[in-house]
This record gives sequence, structure tokens and C-alpha cells, in this order.
Amino acid sequence: MKTLLVTGAAGFIGHNLTLQLLRQGRQVVGLDNLNDYYDPQLKRDRLAQLLPSASFTHADIDLADRDQVAALFGEYRFDAVVNLAAQAGVRYSLINPHSYVDTNLVGFVNLLEGCRHSGVRHLVYASSSSVYGANTRMPFSVHDNVDHPVSLYAASKKANELMAHTYSHLFGLATTGLRFFTVYGPWGRPDMALFLFTKAILEGRPINVFNNGNMERDFTYIDDIVEGVVRVIDHLPRPDGSWNGDAPDPGTSYCPWRVFNIGNNHKEKLMRYIEVLEECLGQKAEKNFLPMQDGDVPATYANVDDLVREIDFKPATSIEEGVQRFVDWYRDYYRI
Ligand SMILES: NC(=O)c1ccc[n+]([C@@H]2O[C@H](COP(=O)([O-])OP(=O)(O)OC[C@H]3O[C@@H](n4cnc5c(N)ncnc54)[C@H](O)[C@@H]3O)[C@@H](O)[C@H]2O)c1
Repeated sequence: MKTLLVTGAAGFIGHNLTLQLLRQGRQVVGLDNLNDYYDPQLKRDRLAQLLPSASFTHADIDLADRDQVAALFGEYRFDAVVNLAAQAGVRYSLINPHSYVDTNLVGFVNLLEGCRHSGVRHLVYASSSSVYGANTRMPFSVHDNVDHPVSLYAASKKANELMAHTYSHLFGLATTGLRFFTVYGPWGRPDMALFLFTKAILEGRPINVFNNGNMERDFTYIDDIVEGVVRVIDHLPRPDGSWNGDAPDPGTSYCPWRVFNIGNNHKEKLMRYIEVLEECLGQKAEKNFLPMQDGDVPATYANVDDLVREIDFKPATSIEEGVQRFVDWYRDYYRI
């Protein structure tokens, strides 16, 4: 997989992944429209780290623009496509649902069509732990049904998995969906808890703690996500010969389609995460305890057995180590 299209290359995960792919000597076209869902300067600064590489080209294209995406696939021969561009965020999907439809659904079809017509060997795409929705059996397994999403964001990610399956079935396109579990680390997303908490604490403002702090998350460090994605790119999904339509396994298929959880396989209490952050910052947080937010889930926890079996990798970075690295980056980036 020498030549890759990475969508969302100026985003948190896309930027970190692209840096690693370039280090490995691969050619990357990074599609990103640098939209203003959060501070575009952070996206420009991430991109500025990629642009000096002769192996990197930026395509300033909206994924929802059918003609431009088709033209891009006409211009390059991609061995693999990694789709990380999305309208992310659970809470924002209650405010601006159309943005999720445009990028996550229309944009995803544009990519599927590009892959179908240009002989792409592997489409790897970001799904999310949020697809587990109302499920409560822990740890979340890809072999459980995920038919009860509680936000439009989650529904759009589940839709991606279903749409990918049809292309794997109809056209033999190899597709792998990755359900990421709360990713954090340097160059992180300003709309996510760690970033919001750090900013508020350093500015002497209270932090909003939802569900009165009774939340659990499988926090996954960015380098672990990158390592997992890189390994998955080169690992084509094989049809599962034992798949049986009488008892359909939601996690595999008779066609070249797979989904994996990528999580730390470690449930952390939100209050412990905050405690670790306070230790790293050397400052206590003033906490504003609030009820649960609509669309959110109280807990996530990933079963990663399939991932370990297929790519021989298990995320392992502790929050003590990962949060410290985030804080170091934050202080350096914002010169605090
Ligand atoms: N960060 C997490 O904890 C997490 C968890 C689960 C799933 N995910 C998924 O992983 C992927 C990457 O997430 P992230 O945290 O890096 O998010 P991000 O918002 O930092 O990155 C997404 C990038 O895609 C770009 N983009 C969005 N819409 C676009 C469009 N229409 N055309 C072109 N570019 C567009 C944005 O400008 C942004 O740079 C997303 O699909 C997200 O849903 C992330």
C-alpha cells in the first residue's frame, strides 16, 4: 500500500496518522477542507507539519462535492483510502444534523464510488464506539448487534458500516471499519473533554462534568490508534468462511468486510481522568456537576480480541502517561 488517500488529514487523527505514513516512506494525498467546526488555525498548523514532505499533497476538497472527489480519483491511483474526514462530535449532531448527512453520508458514498471505479484495494474508515448506543453489555464486542444508536452521529457511523458492506458484497471492495474509543493526545480536538478541561483549568474557569461525574470511558491514546490504523491498512479483510446467514455474526461477513474496536480495553472513571489531569497540571479543577447530556452514553469499554488476533496489536498507553504528553504538548503549543 504505497500510495494512499487520507481524508481528514488536517484533523486530529488524520494528521498524526499521516505523519507516521510519511515516516514509513509512503505517498499520501491528504484531503481536508479545513472547515471551521473548531479553530481552523489548529488545522492549518497540523497541515504545516505535513506540507514540507515531498511525499505529501494537500487536496482542499469538500468530501461532499461529488465532482471534485471523482476528479481526485481520476488524477491518482490510490492503493488504499483511509477515511477520517467526518463531522465528528455527538453533541453537535443535535444542533446541526445536516452537516452529518453531508459529510458522513453523502461524502462517504462519494468515496465508495471513487474506490469502486478506480481499483482501490482497501478502504479503511473511521467508525466510532458511539455505534454501541443503548447497549450495556461490557466490554462492547463487534459481535453484538448495534441497532440502537442514541445520536445522529452514531447512526451516521453505523450507516457507514452498512454502506461499506454493500460495496464489499456487490463489488468485492475490501473494507475495514474501525470503531475508535475516545481518542486523546497531542494535537487533540478542542471540542473534546481533555482539551476543554485543560483550557478551562489553566484559565481559572470551572469545568463542566456531566452525569455528575458518573461516566466511564475507554480512553485511547493517539499513538495506539495510529499504530492500529497503520497495521490495518496492510491487512486486507478476508471473507469469513464460517459466516452463516441463519445466525448472522454482526462482526464479520462472507465478503471482504470487517469491523474492529480500537480501544484501550480499560474502563476509566471520568473522575480519575480529571484527577490525573489535575496532577499533570499541578492545579485543582473547580467542578460544575451537571446532568447527562442528550445523545451521550454513560460508559464505553472495548473488547479488542478480534483486533489482537488479526493484527497482533493491543493499545496499552496508560492515562497517566498519555495525559502528561497531552499537557506537555498543550503548554508548548499555546506557550503557557
Ligand atoms: N477523536 C475521537 O475520539 C474519535 C472517536 C471515534 C471516532 N472518531 C472518528 O475518527 C475520525 C477522525 O476524528 P478526529 O478526532 O481526527 O476529528 P477531526 O474533526 O479533528 O478531523 C476531521 C477532519 O476532517 C475534515 N473534514 C470534515 N468534514 C469534511 C468535508 N466535508 N470535506 C473535507 N474535509 C472534511 C475536518 O476539517 C477535520 O480536519 C472521524 O471520522 C471521527 O468521527 C474520532
